[in-house]
Amino acid sequence: MKKTVIVTGGAGFIGSNFVFHMLAKYPEYRIICLDKLTYAGNLSTLKSVMDNPNFRFVKDDICDREAVYKLFEEEKPDIVVNFAAESHVDRSIENPGVFLETNIMGTATLMDACRKYGIERYHQVSTDEVYGDLPLDRPDLFFTEETPIHTSSPYSSSKASADLLVQAYNRTYGLPVTISRCSNNYGPYHFPEKLIPLMIANALADKPLPVYGEGLNVRDWLYVEDHCKAIDLIIHKGRVGEVYNIGGHNEKTNIYIVKKILELLGKPENLITYVADRKGHDLRYAIDPTKIHNELGWLPETKFDDGIVKTVNWYLENQEWWKNIISGEYQDYYEKMYGDR
Ligand code: NAD
Ligand code: DAU
Repeated sequence: MKKTVIVTGGAGFIGSNFVFHMLAKYPEYRIICLDKLTYAGNLSTLKSVMDNPNFRFVKDDICDREAVYKLFEEEKPDIVVNFAAESHVDRSIENPGVFLETNIMGTATLMDACRKYGIERYHQVSTDEVYGDLPLDRPDLFFTEETPIHTSSPYSSSKASADLLVQAYNRTYGLPVTISRCSNNYGPYHFPEKLIPLMIANALADKPLPVYGEGLNVRDWLYVEDHCKAIDLIIHKGRVGEVYNIGGHNEKTNIYIVKKILELLGKPENLITYVADRKGHDLRYAIDPTKIHNELGWLPETKFDDGIVKTVNWYLENQEWWKNIISGEYQDYYEKMYGDR
């Protein structure tokens, strides 16, 4: 059946991968990308689908009520998937305001449009960071959907606030919502301020690889396509009002990841530079994905050893994409964050 899907933040890392997944899997669907093109959004990422008659790109802000309502009136979407967000923890520590505006007010604005124009499903792309962190010495503990919200950074607090609003719109107004909370993603089109692409770019340029603290913090890495497939399942088959955790039991210390990248690129470990730790740095994330597996049959398909090779190769083959980004505003950001760290 034909459906119209608005994908917000579709010019960013995960959103663009989701746009590609949906256009390929559902040739009868109309996919509309609503994106403000902040520093993290990149229209060149979408160039392969720009001429697809089932695709439309709209440059607007999810906080701009007039623009959002106009788009809903024009397109009458069946489904909205909200990826649009300020997503980088380090930036939220420097400047929380824009995180509150986009991640909380933007979510409310989108849901108000859904209420006004009617919707089959509103899906909120949330994060495992809303659960806070787990201790390093308790490998038996995992985040379940029942784990209390307990945030650490302005970023995670803004995402948790949005989740609470989504649940309130469901309970108060009966809005048909779902929420997914995924662990760290990696793969093509990952913005080069995040750990994996930053380390690849620096290693290729023989620049120092800045590892926070001792590099012993643990993240639970998932290949981006597996995240996209999970969201596809949730919007079509997930139960309204429910939260689904997404993760593939793939915990690695940061230092393991950095050394793996150096090994794959044939670069020396003396490029590693230990720098001042992130303020409030979460120790360990680890998702229990039992619910999405039991209810929707989801399982990750890409093993880390394959996914990281694919990712490193993608960055080797698409140097123009990330080298164009590592300029201008991002250069200033890099100097500010790492200049005297
Ligand atoms: P990203 O920073 O790469 O992309 C964000 C996109 O949102 C960009 O294209 C940007 O232009 C757009 N955007 C920002 N503010 C906007 C606004 N006001 N209006 C319209 N568009 C706006 O982010 P990502 O890593 O792809 O993350 C996407 C979503 O997934 C976020 O909601 C994030 O919280 C969540 N998430 C990310 C990860 C991860 O590992 N990256 C894991 C779990 C959840
Ligand atoms: O868990 C999901 C979250 O994963 C998402 O909600 C966020 O949007 C996404 O950015 C990501 O957050 P992290 O803070 O885990 O990702 P980041 O790539 O910034 O950092 C990963 C780990 O690497 C973290 O422990 C900090 C460390 N790090 C990061 C950078 C950028 C370094 O040691 N050095 C660095 O230069």
